[in-house]
Amino acid sequence: MTSSITLRRPDDMHLHLRDGAMLKAVLPETARHFARAIIMPNLVPPVVTARDATAYRDRIMAALPKGMAFEPLMTLYLTEATDPKDVAAAHASGLVKAVKLYPAGATTNSQSGVKDFDKVRAVLETMAEIGLPLCVHGEVTDPDIDIFDREAVFIDRVLDPIRRRTPGLRVIMEHVTTKDGVAYIGETEKNLAGTITTHHLIINRNHILAGGIRPHYYCLPVAKRETHRLALRKAATGGDARYFLGTDSAPHPDHLKEHACGCAGCFTATNTMALLAHVFEEEGALARLEAFTSLNGAAFYGLPPNEGTLTLTKSGAAAEWPAKITGPAGPVTVFDPGFPVYWHVND
Ligand code: NCD
Ligand code: ZN
Repeated sequence: MTSSITLRRPDDMHLHLRDGAMLKAVLPETARHFARAIIMPNLVPPVVTARDATAYRDRIMAALPKGMAFEPLMTLYLTEATDPKDVAAAHASGLVKAVKLYPAGATTNSQSGVKDFDKVRAVLETMAEIGLPLCVHGEVTDPDIDIFDREAVFIDRVLDPIRRRTPGLRVIMEHVTTKDGVAYIGETEKNLAGTITTHHLIINRNHILAGGIRPHYYCLPVAKRETHRLALRKAATGGDARYFLGTDSAPHPDHLKEHACGCAGCFTATNTMALLAHVFEEEGALARLEAFTSLNGAAFYGLPPNEGTLTLTKSGAAAEWPAKITGPAGPVTVFDPGFPVYWHVND
């Protein structure tokens, strides 16, 4: 039996494209299926100013293969020295669609992030006034807090106080990984949304740690217990418009993943849409896939939905994708869900 589903062309509301030769290697993997993406600013050095974002956007467009269409939605990396006027100008010109908050030390290339949240108050107040959303990596960095609890503790210690102090601020709690995150978003009427990754709908912490350590499943925030994965599945597929896709596709060369101190990040750009069709079908929610990938995020960002479409077809043959793509510093492993997927994107 063949069935198919046609969606508005999707947006990836959390994507790592990197720079230089890695950007060239991974950009087509996203642009093949996605019309737009919110581009993470955690380069080395980070994308801090409007000027940095303009230059990075130009490098992304220069790396786009001929014949492909793609719009990068740029973000700024919030530091304690970020100038509210620069942020406001970057927003007014249409260049920047969000500002990204990394607690210092929380994840890959977050050393320049925020340590003292009081120091970014003026920027957050400006953002609330002008309606520019804050994308949040929601994990505390306190070494005394267990890594599996860092998201829940962040909500209480950092996110909720920021939102109470700056009630007009529009916040995206990115890559939600816990039922605590889902509960927090669920009790909030306004100005809060959540992105969910593809891999967190598929793996729990056993996939990383049981029967041998699997570095390609290690990302931050780290996948949690099965109860959390089930809560994420319900949130993503349940038709709640506050949730939308942010893949957090984050390429690292294999030798740095398969390492004594392996990098965090799952690379899912290549097969995300087929995997999501599989997950939504399993949940009896295929009809809600379009809202999750193509409508809810655009609406939260105040963008029109994309004009184009993407069709996925289910057939009797398992979908095939390359196990690895070729990056400049060696291969990059494509996320392996560990089960066959029968949905294919009609390219
Ligand atoms: C991301 C990266 O590699 O840049 N890694 C990850 O595990 N998700 C950073 C991030 O979003 O935390
Ligand atoms: Zn990320």
